[in-house]
Amino acid sequence: MNILLTGGAGYIGSHTALVLAQAGHNVVLFDNLSNSDAAVPEKISSMAGKKLPFVQADVRATDLVEKALREHRIDAVVHFAGFKAVGESVAVPIEYYANNIHGTVSLLQAMQRVSVKTLLFSSSATVYGLPQYLPIDEAHPTHAINPYGRTKLHVEEMLGDVARSDAAWRIMCLRYFNPVGAHESGMIGERPNGIPNNLMPFIAQVASGERERLQVFGNDYPTADGTGIRDYIHVMDLAEGHAAAVHYLQSHQGWDVINLGTGQGYSVLDMVRAFEKASGRGIPYVIAARRPGDVPACYANPAKAKRLLGWQATRSLDDMCASTWQFQRNRV
Ligand code: NAD
Ligand code: UD1
Repeated sequence: MNILLTGGAGYIGSHTALVLAQAGHNVVLFDNLSNSDAAVPEKISSMAGKKLPFVQADVRATDLVEKALREHRIDAVVHFAGFKAVGESVAVPIEYYANNIHGTVSLLQAMQRVSVKTLLFSSSATVYGLPQYLPIDEAHPTHAINPYGRTKLHVEEMLGDVARSDAAWRIMCLRYFNPVGAHESGMIGERPNGIPNNLMPFIAQVASGERERLQVFGNDYPTADGTGIRDYIHVMDLAEGHAAAVHYLQSHQGWDVINLGTGQGYSVLDMVRAFEKASGRGIPYVIAARRPGDVPACYANPAKAKRLLGWQATRSLDDMCASTWQFQRNRV
């Protein structure tokens, strides 16, 4: 198939591009490079052993999206493009609504003009809000608790309306849990801007000596070691989940949501120990106050993905840490 990836030069988009290209699809990258490196399209092409066309443009430029869809005879779109930092979304909500909501509307308008009606959307487990039970399945109530989460929820709902308006649409919202890791080569990976908000990139920078120590946000949660538990999923597993979803949509119309997680939770201290083992470096840490808005534990019930897509995560926590470390070492 001919597949356009908006945000294809980003962290998850770049790994998905590689997996789709290696599976034989013709992948086109569409990205404005607002949060990615201009070298990434070339890197993916060299890893895939074939040139992936790259369009440097904004998804809000509807005419340019339409042009790319026509020129490359696109059959399906994977929509990664958007902003994703929770704290920033509280500070500059208009930017988040403009990019995440308007960006999606623009994409849908372009797709409708050329009758491309197959779409995978990058959603997030953040749409579940405070977990009411664990593990979280797709029937769990949704309740976004910050502007970023609300953009994801609004887009999911908007996509539901679009699918109901015309039976030709095939739309899947993929709710990612905590993507971490990198391609095993360490050539592509997550490139955080400034001080990382998320645990894994922060740990990697402590291991490499870029930062002095990790702050563990709370050790008085009702968990085995008192620290927060999350469902970390290897980005290559996540990428393969997209390939399975693209395949699924070829024979399924309508709108649906699927969790992409492992179903296995790890604590902050589990992550520290695993990273120490993978890197051979000590990770100094201090216990700090809980981070506002954090939940004690959050992990997926991934049964629906297995049932519908025939996909499940296979990579271990060691794989996640080793690949993150490989990318970190290539970076510095
Ligand atoms: P990322 O920032 O690395 O990738 C997003 C890409 O989109 C970047 O390359 C950026 O330059 C591009 N982009 C942003 N706005 C654009 C626009 N208007 N036009 C064209 N390109 C634009 O982020 P990521 O971690 O790869 O996340 C991809 C998607 O997955 C996002 O929608 C994010 O909200 C979602 N998601 C990410 C996580 C996570 O932890 N990384 C978790 C859940 C959901
Ligand atoms: C964050 C986002 C969420 C997004 C998810 C997936 C916030 C508030 N939420 O969630 O919207 O869907 O990433 O990428 O940003 N921790 C520390 N020290 C640190 C950093 C984190 O102890 O320096 C702890 C946290 O308290 C938490 C765990 O590590 O228990 C994971 O944190 P993080 O990587 O930020 O992910 P989430 O909080 O799950």
